[in-house]
Amino acid sequence: MEHAIIFGVTGQDGSHLADLLLDKGYSVTGVARRSSTDTSSRIKNILNHPQFRLIEGDITDASSVLNILKSNEYVDEIYNLAAQSHVATSFKQPALTWDITGKGCFNILQSIIDLDRYEVRFYQASSSEMFGSSYVVGEDGVKHQDENTKFLPQSPYAISKCAAHYAVRLFREAYNLHASAGILFNHEGPRRGDNFVTKKITNWVVDFHLWLKDNDIKPEFLCFSDTEIFGLQDKSFPKLRLGNVESYRDWGYAGDYVEAMWLMLQQNEPDDYVICTGETYKVRDFLDYAFQAVGLDSWENYVYIDPEFYRPAEVDFLRGNCSKAKSKLGWTPKYDLKMLVNLMIDSKLNDQLQNNARHI
Ligand code: GDD
Repeated sequence: MEHAIIFGVTGQDGSHLADLLLDKGYSVTGVARRSSTDTSSRIKNILNHPQFRLIEGDITDASSVLNILKSNEYVDEIYNLAAQSHVATSFKQPALTWDITGKGCFNILQSIIDLDRYEVRFYQASSSEMFGSSYVVGEDGVKHQDENTKFLPQSPYAISKCAAHYAVRLFREAYNLHASAGILFNHEGPRRGDNFVTKKITNWVVDFHLWLKDNDIKPEFLCFSDTEIFGLQDKSFPKLRLGNVESYRDWGYAGDYVEAMWLMLQQNEPDDYVICTGETYKVRDFLDYAFQAVGLDSWENYVYIDPEFYRPAEVDFLRGNCSKAKSKLGWTPKYDLKMLVNLMIDSKLNDQLQNNARHI
């Protein structure tokens, strides 16, 4: 039986990857930081799985990583999905972001070497944020980023990811380690953290839709202030507060993308791969789809553009080109943006309806 360690198993990607590997018959050791609050909501379905074990550990602590590897003598694959992954937060906590997102990767790589585990295969979650303001124009005149596009990071998060990415390349070359990096473009889904823009939008849209229904309010009778939406009988609902809605992102489904991580570690040779859909949309397009999904037209009335959510520096344009992953890994994304929006809205609606049913 193959054995994998997933650092960051309680996150969106970690939980999807654990599901995938358990389905494939792996035994999986998931590593998560100690927390005073319960962080296991995304892995509830596998906590009692006979081939799954959750252990405490922290990639910022080299001795913790070393002990985890020592106590897991037989490991075929190690996936590093642990990170401080919120870009805006990285401007407020740059050193913490570096410790987790940058240094943490070094701690794992160095432990592999110190323990002579040269046979292990390693995956690093690199990010399209590393491209920052950089892109190339293809022969077809289309702007995109691929494995050969230079990095121009625009945040402490992206700088930390670049350092980790270069470390993977160095350890691959210096020690002949089977270490690969997936340069993943934005990937979303029902398990996405609440403070990322897609989840923030879909959560708000569903809550507002249910508020209208519960109070029997028709959208045509609504009034608006700058920050509030007023219904009948003095009932009000706070507007959705967002920052920059003009940036372009290449959004895919997280469940699709973990398959690519696994495929990278099944190749004879380690390498780096861009993983994306190849389509790009503005945040305002995502808003269009999400509002349409619950029968609301023009989102402009319902959104308050709040300077608080603007970043000191922004990545304006991301569109990946994953030709290499398609040809070498045989990987293709299955979800387009509309399917993704519908998946997130339907899932949130189901959750809310089940919660309400529980309270009846
Ligand atoms: N989070 C957030 N909140 N973003 C907002 C908001 C808001 O209220 N309003 C506008 N945005 C804009 C951001 O400025 C950004 O241009 C875009 O929405 C997407 O923001 P996020 O969803 O936070 O994702 P990200 O693109 O910064 O980073 C995500 O994708 C990377 C891959 O490219 C994260 O998952 C990173 O960890 C990941 O590496």
